[in-house]
Amino acid sequence: MSHPVYGLNELREMFLSYFESKGHLRLPSFSLIPHNDASLLLINSGMAPMKTWFTREEEPPRNRVCTCQKCIRTGDIENIGKTARHGTYFEMLGNFSFGDYFKKDAIPMSWEFLTKVVGLEPDRLYPSIYVDDDEAFEIWNKDMGIPAERIFRFGKADNFWEHGPGPCGPCSEIYYDRGEKYGCGKPDCTVGCECDRYIEIWNNVFSQFVNDGEGHYEEMQNKNIDTGMGLERLAVVSQDVASLFDVDTVMHITNKVSEITGAHYAESAKTDVSLRVITDHIRSAVMMICDGVLPSNEGRGYVLRRLLRRAARHGKLLSMDEPFLYTVVATVVEVNKVAYPDLVEKEAYITKVVRTEEENFLKTLDAGMKIYTDLLAAHKEKQETVFSGADAFKLYDTYGFPIDLTAEMLEEEGMTVDKAGFDELMEQQRTRARKAREALGDVAWAGIDLGLDATPTAFTGYDHDTDSGKVLAIVADEELRDAMVKGAEGVIVLDKTPFYAEMGGQVADHGTISLGDAVFTVTNVQKDKAGKFLHHGVMESGELKVGDTITAAIDRERRQAVRRAHSATHLLDAALQKVLGDHVHQAGSLVEPDRLRFDFTHFSAITPEELTKIDRLVNDEILAGMPVETREMPIEEAKKLGATAIFGEKYGKTVRVVSMGEGEELASLEFCGGTHLDNTAKVGPFRIKSEASVASGVRRIEATVGRASLEVMNRNQEMLFHVAEMMKTNPGELAGKAEQMMNEMRDLRHSLEKFQAQASLGQAQQFLMSAKAVGGLKVLTNVRPGADANALRQMGDFLRDKEPGVVAVLAATGEDKITFLAVCGKEAVAKGVKAGDLVKLVSGIAGGSGGGKPDSAMGGGKDLLKLDDALAAVDDFVAGKLK
Ligand code: ALA
Repeated sequence: MSHPVYGLNELREMFLSYFESKGHLRLPSFSLIPHNDASLLLINSGMAPMKTWFTREEEPPRNRVCTCQKCIRTGDIENIGKTARHGTYFEMLGNFSFGDYFKKDAIPMSWEFLTKVVGLEPDRLYPSIYVDDDEAFEIWNKDMGIPAERIFRFGKADNFWEHGPGPCGPCSEIYYDRGEKYGCGKPDCTVGCECDRYIEIWNNVFSQFVNDGEGHYEEMQNKNIDTGMGLERLAVVSQDVASLFDVDTVMHITNKVSEITGAHYAESAKTDVSLRVITDHIRSAVMMICDGVLPSNEGRGYVLRRLLRRAARHGKLLSMDEPFLYTVVATVVEVNKVAYPDLVEKEAYITKVVRTEEENFLKTLDAGMKIYTDLLAAHKEKQETVFSGADAFKLYDTYGFPIDLTAEMLEEEGMTVDKAGFDELMEQQRTRARKAREALGDVAWAGIDLGLDATPTAFTGYDHDTDSGKVLAIVADEELRDAMVKGAEGVIVLDKTPFYAEMGGQVADHGTISLGDAVFTVTNVQKDKAGKFLHHGVMESGELKVGDTITAAIDRERRQAVRRAHSATHLLDAALQKVLGDHVHQAGSLVEPDRLRFDFTHFSAITPEELTKIDRLVNDEILAGMPVETREMPIEEAKKLGATAIFGEKYGKTVRVVSMGEGEELASLEFCGGTHLDNTAKVGPFRIKSEASVASGVRRIEATVGRASLEVMNRNQEMLFHVAEMMKTNPGELAGKAEQMMNEMRDLRHSLEKFQAQASLGQAQQFLMSAKAVGGLKVLTNVRPGADANALRQMGDFLRDKEPGVVAVLAATGEDKITFLAVCGKEAVAKGVKAGDLVKLVSGIAGGSGGGKPDSAMGGGKDLLKLDDALAAVDDFVAGKLK
């Protein structure tokens, strides 16, 4: 090899600064999460985030741009790791021209960069062009002086670049010849061969069409350049290493994985696969989490979950029984931080997300693996090679095994899975869930056909508290009726109503439906599939009939309290994002009169400081008295404004958007169908009641607003006055007074203890005097009802230290037990009388046991009736020892 060697981080910088010197605007990598592009789950090439600049739907910041873009391609995930060629994560270097330069400039720049800047030998480089692109041929041949036989012409499959809908066009690639050692050795091996010798490193796309995603190509007015070069590939070539896993930065990660797992690269084909899977997947996972993706069962979240779980399972294959991927995060951050400094900021968070997912997965895996093994054995016994969809579904549903994981494990057994059967069960489950949800709305009249058309009830409650309406249907005692009579319970359906039906976490309105003296009290409102509002309640007086024109009136006070809670929920949601970060997404919400509960994604407990900040921010925005506005607009417009939508929620073409504050002072902007105040000030005091975890990665805040907060505050205030009065002070001095009293109490306790100790030592002196002399030793026994072990010990130590010839057994009696302490002074021990033996004896007699050192030992007995016998044995024991 005769070219210089550069590190991956160096190469990135060389590329970007080269194109900067050619008038390009250097932009940082875009997020892996596509912005306003539903055709893509994850960014998969340098041009993907710039589609609208190519099509001129949006103006590019400059007509020449260069980037190094984070990319993820997971199309081929089952094969990642099996070969050393592919990874899911890679970085793509690219220079782009939006209607500025075209082929004539793009080709020489790519050549100059590769040969002059990176220093690759021109003899090893081979251009390819689209089959009939003579213009490109001329440039390579005439301008660049590449002989015709070194220029390869390929068809659409190779030299027409497109990736789903969007800008595309013919392209010219540059191949690098890595030499015979990477070749297949076949006589016709040359550029385009499938082996590892000639690899494509650069792609110049002459981006001049837009593909509408259905095969129609429209020529764009402006001709663009879209280029792409895999940074890892370039590093493979520059460093002349075998694969992307041998590139300097990637190798660091593999080494770290080796250090943890004890498996080393190139030891066995099997462990190599695992090492590659782990290395590649953790790279992808770290980058995805950094950009705000969280593991889940759908979309990007599923991709992330799949990557992490696949890596974790390969960890298991390397005998890792504990979570370990999270310990690799730091290395991934370390090798990438030059280009992506936000990794450093988010390292702790990323680590936490990875660890949580690993822990959850290992738990389910352990449980599921056993089931899997049993199911597999059963299939094998029947000599089946297809694992049933039902079993795969069971593993998925109960043990969280992604279907692809099951399929992959089966592949290792030479088996397949019945994917169609699995999909059918999945669909059935979805239907069941949907039905269950619907049933919840239909409880009181399940199975009753109202005989009404499908026109939804008109909801007039955004700006009416009271409205007239016509009774369309009545259900009482679970049957369709013409009238609702006094005392009946049931459902009334109206053509229009100011009552809010329970939805989006907001509870239903309460109120009355009346006509003269006839009053129906509404206690719940649900919406059915057709959008008819079902007013559930009781007929208090009179009678209502189908066809009556009634007055529907909601309980205004209650509704106002619900509005307070709902507007506060929006402020809280926005505050959480501001204080904790963009990863916060609503995961559930309950809006009740003056009370709210908000569940959201976040991976650690909220610190008291963060909680104070959140509380402060919400209350400040309330005090600022911001106007609250609701507008209906096309969904695209709402998205453009950046309104917060609920993750995974489906919205119609027109959406309702609620904003709080305006312009610079915009506090919150959310998609919402609920009812709100007209000014944030009306929320009143906002008080966080609790913060806790509800599921892994999901936290819950409960809070009060308006009157409920006032009630709490009043109660606290009353309690404060009450306690202050009891302590004979005023609230302002209560804390000082409490502290003073605690200090006094502590001093008193100390004096009391001292006093008690002295008193018992005084007693001990007296015992000594009353001790019996046995063979020159002083033997004494004493029963101390209710004393604790400490008191016994204190007295025992005193006796032992004071009198070398003492042999004492002290017994403290409780309700149904005895604690014994035996002590022997030095002289006694020297004569062979040992406390340990003694206590064993006495506790034994009293139905217990004990033991300890020669000078001091403790024991316990159960039989209070034997206490006297036990103590009586002491004299004889001593006498026996002295013989
Ligand atoms: N967009 C082209 C590619 O990804 C450059 O290869």
